[in-house]
Amino acid sequence: MSDIVILGIFVADTAYRADRQPKMGETILGTSFVLGPGGKGSNQSVAAAMAGGKTSIITRLGKDAFADIARATWAKAGVTPHVTEDAESYTGAAYIFIENATGNNAIIVAAGAAGRISVEDVEANRALIEGAKVFITQLEQPIPAARRALEIARAAGVRTILNPAPAAPLDDDLLALCDIVTPNESETESLTGLPVTTLAEAELAADALLARGVGACLITLGERGALYRDRTRSVHVPVISAGKVLDTTGAGDAFNGGFAVALTEGRDVIDAVRFGCATAGISVTRPGTAPAMPSRAEIDALLACGS
Ligand code: RIB
Repeated sequence: MSDIVILGIFVADTAYRADRQPKMGETILGTSFVLGPGGKGSNQSVAAAMAGGKTSIITRLGKDAFADIARATWAKAGVTPHVTEDAESYTGAAYIFIENATGNNAIIVAAGAAGRISVEDVEANRALIEGAKVFITQLEQPIPAARRALEIARAAGVRTILNPAPAAPLDDDLLALCDIVTPNESETESLTGLPVTTLAEAELAADALLARGVGACLITLGERGALYRDRTRSVHVPVISAGKVLDTTGAGDAFNGGFAVALTEGRDVIDAVRFGCATAGISVTRPGTAPAMPSRAEIDALLACGS
């Protein structure tokens, strides 16, 4: 049994650094290329395990070399995999453009086998979900699977977190299954139709999501940190910097993984947000996604510096 159970995808990240993105029909020279483990669900599971959480991932892989990268990544981080092998598909990949000047990114994900995660895959792991303290999912795998897993978790009294990434239209009854949603600014804009360029706008957008039935809204705001808002409190937690930003890819995953660990330890939700911010703050100083996730000792040291 695991305290943190994550439903989501693994893909191989193919990360290209360049000064800018090519225009359609144009070829430009990049400055580097790295192949490594990715996928939001997998990244979040690695972040949680590295931060000290007993963590499982439910997913689907092909039978190929990228699947071997997934298994090696989870073994190294201490994540327990619950994998449906899918010989009729392939383990997916992500194209990641990283802008040299800022470390910001743009991503295309082809989920492959994980894009075929089914309600049956979820049902096969029902007891695992019911035994968790925190359940997390995202929107890179089919939504019916996410919905079923959220229903199982909610019925068992497990705390439910939806990281609605990438943004997709969601029914209110699905949002009502979520104790906490963790969109970034652009995902919040897509979900609500409201602008999120200031803290005041983020608060209004959070209210719109609360009105649609979520228990709490936790909006990640890039270099401005995060906003936590529920029906009784609204708290802005500033970014916790660990140094120069090199690569922001996977920062949201680091945040979600760290946040979940702190919740399972019984910390107050705002303390858990700070723990998530510290986890993300370290991850952005390093290249890559899963390989950038910090250890528990590193997170504790950064939080101790700031307190
Ligand atoms: O959140 C970052 C992740 O999004 C990358 O690892 C990429 O694979 C995409 O899923």
